[in-house]
Amino acid sequence: MTPDRLARLPKAELHCHLEGTASPALVQRQAARHGVDVSDILADGAYRRGDFQTFLRAYDRASALFRTEEDYAELTRTYLAAIAAEGAFHAELFVSPDHARAAGLAPRTYIGAVAAGAARAEADHGIVCRLIVVGVRHFGVAAVEAAARFAAEPGLPRVSGFGLAGDETVGRPADFARAFAIAGEAGLGLTAHAGEFAGPDAVRETLDALKPSRLGHGVRAVEDRELLRRIAAEGVVLEVCPGSNLALGVYPSPAAHPLRRLVEAGCRVTVNSDDPPFFATSLAAEYAFARDRQGLAESVLAGFTRTAIEAAFVDKDTRRMLEERFVAALLALGSGPGSD
Ligand code: ADE
Ligand code: ZN
Repeated sequence: MTPDRLARLPKAELHCHLEGTASPALVQRQAARHGVDVSDILADGAYRRGDFQTFLRAYDRASALFRTEEDYAELTRTYLAAIAAEGAFHAELFVSPDHARAAGLAPRTYIGAVAAGAARAEADHGIVCRLIVVGVRHFGVAAVEAAARFAAEPGLPRVSGFGLAGDETVGRPADFARAFAIAGEAGLGLTAHAGEFAGPDAVRETLDALKPSRLGHGVRAVEDRELLRRIAAEGVVLEVCPGSNLALGVYPSPAAHPLRRLVEAGCRVTVNSDDPPFFATSLAAEYAFARDRQGLAESVLAGFTRTAIEAAFVDKDTRRMLEERFVAALLALGSGPGSD
């Protein structure tokens, strides 16, 4: 598979935090505009590397620099345009009403601005975008339930899912069952970060208590054969983010990452960028990781995109349209049996 074929491979993203897409240069500009010192999170034009808690603090500090509707519309448009140029035709972005509020923006105004940026990217580049409202685990159970009630409000443009993000070591999955029930009853798709830092027990408890159709990361499930069998049998989709896992030290080397083992165990897998500039990655780089560092064939990479479309939080007609675009893009690539 040549670099050119990888560039033209149709791609989709299910796991990306909107505020986590801000480039260091943009954060530096916003900081200068608001007179904020960000030398604690940026060095030499890049995000400083650190552990998970350090990352979460940097994420909160950078997010607080995006304060207006224009800021959010432009952040959204810019990211979607960038991944469309990498071959993506569908993206789901995590949006956080708590981060918007902390930056001084009412959540409904924030969603409206993000949706406006998504509409512009869709018009300019054809990329479809949906929004997943997240509750942030380390902000507490009440905040996560408030985020779920907000997500369940009618008339939020492009919002089609609810998720749980933040520090997985805080609280137990069952603490968030009510939030997930509220969101599920409102017809939203459900996803939860689990098995990113915590081990297989946390993944099992998350599946039991929150009943998400997708798991953010889920990679540490690989440590438990019985759990892997369950994930494969139940068709739970894993939103795997290798670059994030490597940057945050979950795995010591590219070869140690379990992406290939998850695929071989029969799990339904997608690849995603999480917070790309924080982890010096991109959606295309994640697909390239799968090919170059894990030795996965082009057909497997195409399967990630197919799985993302199957698991997307979209209505029936949109899914059919995405499937048609996926098949057309593969045909244009001349992809089929033997093209590995
Ligand atoms: N919020 C932003 N990025 C995150 C991650 N990788 N895990 C949990 N919460 C997050
Ligand atoms: Zn994430």
